[in-house]
Amino acid sequence: MHGTIFTLLKRYVQTQYDHSTWVRLMEAAGLSATSFDHKNVYPDEHMYALVGHAAEMTGLSAQELHEKFGEYLVPDLMYMYQKLLQPQWTTLDMLEHTENTMHRQVRQEHAENAPPVLQVTRLSPDELEINYVSKRRMGALAVGIVRGIATYYDEADRILVEPETSEDGEHVRIRVRRVAAA
Ligand code: HEM
Repeated sequence: MHGTIFTLLKRYVQTQYDHSTWVRLMEAAGLSATSFDHKNVYPDEHMYALVGHAAEMTGLSAQELHEKFGEYLVPDLMYMYQKLLQPQWTTLDMLEHTENTMHRQVRQEHAENAPPVLQVTRLSPDELEINYVSKRRMGALAVGIVRGIATYYDEADRILVEPETSEDGEHVRIRVRRVAAA
């Protein structure tokens, strides 16, 4: 997986907890000798080990942690790929275009990059459905990213996110609806 995701995980742990937590986490995951940078790609297993041990250490489930981390990632991802954002977009437009803009660009940057293929169907001006299919089973990260995008566009109180996960976790259907502000 993309080094950026690892460097952001490191920053997430350092800011939400502290640096010594990160050091303990790397030790627990058997990764003390590894350092992450945004230019390289690292095995997915490192991410599973880190999130798994982080879940143990925090008492949260791996799912909850993935979701929180997904929310945290968004401002940085938006900043990194800001050239691809259209000024008139809000949450649903952004989600509709992730596949053919951001994820496409990510794939072109490095042969080993493999963001999930997101099939997005716009059902109406206020509703869409995302089909997430990935062997990585990181649907909870996808849900977190969706929530983070709603927050980014200041629509968190209007966007409803309803995930439905297959038994093996490789397939998640996420309904996203915009409703009147509460
Ligand atoms: C600003 C928009 C976005 C950018 C720049 C972005 C970028 C990336 C990058 C760099 C990766 C790592 C790929 C790799 O290591 O091979 C990734 C993975 C991922 N992205 Fe995105 N992404 C964006 C939006 C989204 C959205 C809207 C979703 C979900 C609805 C999403 C879901 C995921 C998931 C779940 C992964 C983890 C890998 C997997 O499950 O296979 N991303 N994305």
